[in-house]
Amino acid sequence: MAGICLGSLLMCSFLQAQNSTYELQVDVKALGASIQPSMYGIFFEDINFGADGGLYAELIKNRSFEFDNPFAGWVPFGDVTIETKNPCFDRNSHYVRLKNRHLITGTGLDNEGFRGIGVKAGEKYDFTVYARTINIKDTPVKIRVELVNAENNIFETQRIEIAGTDWKKYAVALSPKATEVKARLRITMETPGTIDLEHISLFPQKTFMNRPNGMREDLAQALKALKPGVFRFPGGCIVEGTTIETRYQWKNTVGPVENRPININRWNYTFPHKKFPDYYQSYGLGFYEYFLLSEDLGAEPLPVLNCGLSCQFENEGMDQHVLVKDLQPYVDDALDLIEFANGPVTSKWGRLRAQMGHPESFHLKFIAIGNEQWGPIYPERLKVFVDAIREKYPEIKIVGGSGPGSEGEDFDYLWPEMRRLGVDLVDEHFYRSPEWFLREAARYDSYDRSGPKVFAGEYACHPDNRENSFLTALCEAAFMTGLERNADVVHLATYAPLFAHVEAWQWRPDLIWFDNLRYVCTPNYYVQQLYSLNSGTHVLSLSLDGKPLTGQHDLYATAAFDQKTNELILKIANVSIQKKRIQLFVAGLEERKHAGTCTLLQSMDLEIKNTLEQPTQIVPRVVPVEMGNSTLKTTLLPFSFSVYRISL
Ligand code: AHR
Repeated sequence: MAGICLGSLLMCSFLQAQNSTYELQVDVKALGASIQPSMYGIFFEDINFGADGGLYAELIKNRSFEFDNPFAGWVPFGDVTIETKNPCFDRNSHYVRLKNRHLITGTGLDNEGFRGIGVKAGEKYDFTVYARTINIKDTPVKIRVELVNAENNIFETQRIEIAGTDWKKYAVALSPKATEVKARLRITMETPGTIDLEHISLFPQKTFMNRPNGMREDLAQALKALKPGVFRFPGGCIVEGTTIETRYQWKNTVGPVENRPININRWNYTFPHKKFPDYYQSYGLGFYEYFLLSEDLGAEPLPVLNCGLSCQFENEGMDQHVLVKDLQPYVDDALDLIEFANGPVTSKWGRLRAQMGHPESFHLKFIAIGNEQWGPIYPERLKVFVDAIREKYPEIKIVGGSGPGSEGEDFDYLWPEMRRLGVDLVDEHFYRSPEWFLREAARYDSYDRSGPKVFAGEYACHPDNRENSFLTALCEAAFMTGLERNADVVHLATYAPLFAHVEAWQWRPDLIWFDNLRYVCTPNYYVQQLYSLNSGTHVLSLSLDGKPLTGQHDLYATAAFDQKTNELILKIANVSIQKKRIQLFVAGLEERKHAGTCTLLQSMDLEIKNTLEQPTQIVPRVVPVEMGNSTLKTTLLPFSFSVYRISL
């Protein structure tokens, strides 16, 4: 427990009478506020190689040679040049020209993937390329496509013949016999001639829900297992861009994947001590894929759009922002996005959605305008969006923001402004200490019930060492009792960030860590999952000595009723080193035995974490429980988060 500032708290609990039994009251007949089915969700941003090299299943980095260094990710050998004349795709004009001049090196190029290419024996991978010959006599040219392992041994070979001087798509399936976490793809010319290659792709055939251009199966399954109610995307700071030119523009991310212009990822250079010159957004995972993934996960999509402000952290005092009078294209982006998601197939953007494979509406209900903005420059821009969206799409719920801080001057300025503008939800962000998370478990108990609802859109407990651990998960679990208890005012909540590649991360803690073949769920993931799988439908008032349990005796709790299963759900965190005895008196119940379960996340080691090598150091475990005579008597283990589900 070294390095944690919970010492005084723990000592306090030690001094308390160890024999106390805490008597909690709940009435299952007195239903409180509805808990939104979308309450617990996920927030995805392309940070930590979360999209390219992560969730998006493409295995080739810089497949279109569009990075600022067009050979980034590639090692050419022999005679290979970058060309742009008569390109295959007008918005991605770079391609490579390979000449086989019988050089002793041969001619070809290797791709390193994203810190290597992960492939599994027995799986199939689609290699595709757009190609043409430049030969005067139009002679076909053979190329060899190989997978090379970390020891430089070739372990899979296929061949393609390129014929004709027009651009055409070629494909061959690779079937590796070995599993490799750090393979490379190699293309070598086998016969004389000159060829042009463009958009070189290697994609697993097996993707989540077998979607073409889809998601990495295992990572998306990990999301599905969270049963997210809402899916916020695509950022975060990347929505804002470091400059207005580098902002996220959703229209660049739809249509044929080969012709989506790439964008530098701001996490490429945001932290000088964590520089990633090879971090770009291919937009292969674009807005169509985000909507489809929301649907596949059963989550409400919640896109975030730029409001005409680029990152205010990066542009303090600079004239980078769009003037209010020039906002129309940005407003159009918002209106067109709603049409893209929901519009009829006869509309311009609805037609594009249909052409991409989804004539049905995506049933978009929410849109967020702006990410972490502050000061009067935000509401004056947001107003223009609110007016336009309300007029054309009054049914859409608009999410405004309260800035990057969890409290303070900017926060206090923005909340009343959000009320004035009449947004439906206000996005709050808090990356704060363990102590803050415990203290703020009562944060929403006194919130104004009128006006906009709360969307806790980015939060994570940040200890000094910024590592995921059971300590942070336990503090989040304690804090989240306050989200649920206040479900009348808190409507949505999403942890941040979601993913991190173990070899390419910029920010931590994160919910899920991965390498090229494996992933690991953090204790924080399990807390999120325990909440979302056990959210219930209605809040029940739970009290100790007539008050909600928000840290008295180091206990934090919330109760809910699940109308669908007729169960009482009690979530209770004990952040003390002492075990605690409780008796829960349940009013409104038949006097008989009631069976149930307790799912428990517990450890005496607050620093414990799950790793790729040891992924199950701390995972929830389920034990049966029984409640007799309307009273649940139980002992809460030290440092534990318990979720009781009792059949009524
Ligand atoms: O989640 C990481 C970053 O934190 C997000 O991009 C931003 O919104 C916040 O500052």
